[in-house]
Amino acid sequence: MSQADDHQGTRRDFLYYATGGAAAVTAGAAVWPLVDQMNPSADVKALSSIRVDISGVEVGSQITVKWLGKPVFIRHRSEEEIAAARADDSANLPDKFARNDNVDASLPADDENRAMDEAGEWLVMMGVCTHLGCVPLGDGAGDFGGWYCPCHGSHYDASGRIRRGPAPENLPVPVAEFVDETTIKLG
Ligand code: FES
Repeated sequence: MSQADDHQGTRRDFLYYATGGAAAVTAGAAVWPLVDQMNPSADVKALSSIRVDISGVEVGSQITVKWLGKPVFIRHRSEEEIAAARADDSANLPDKFARNDNVDASLPADDENRAMDEAGEWLVMMGVCTHLGCVPLGDGAGDFGGWYCPCHGSHYDASGRIRRGPAPENLPVPVAEFVDETTIKLG
């Protein structure tokens, strides 16, 4: 790639972020750093849990927290988002598995197997594109009403499932649980 091309690409990305609104995850941080440190050993993982206060997360919005050096998206989905995600259970999903560390690995990618609660209000996922590790943009970004990774054009739906683009898998759901009504424990 020539320098000119490279510059153009950078500028395009910048414009995308700039128009993406305040909710976009850290502008310019398209590639999450420290990719090599993303896979801590099991004992480190076991020791590393955090509690997240979600009481201030409005319906239809999300927060991004950092856990084990990686971004985690915690989204409080609206009824429309839940309905869209569940309607898409029957779509032709490129990745058929739930990718949820809290359930059996063989379970299908149905939204109910990915959401935190039965009603599907809360969706918790690693904010790391399964293609090459960029941080996808959220808040309905992309063509499927969920997240969009501008690095190479991966579109995720309202359940965080890959729908189009080079990413091979759904955004993974980490070990997470409610410890009370307004607190989610990661890890
Ligand atoms: S890193 Fe997301 S599409 Fe390539």
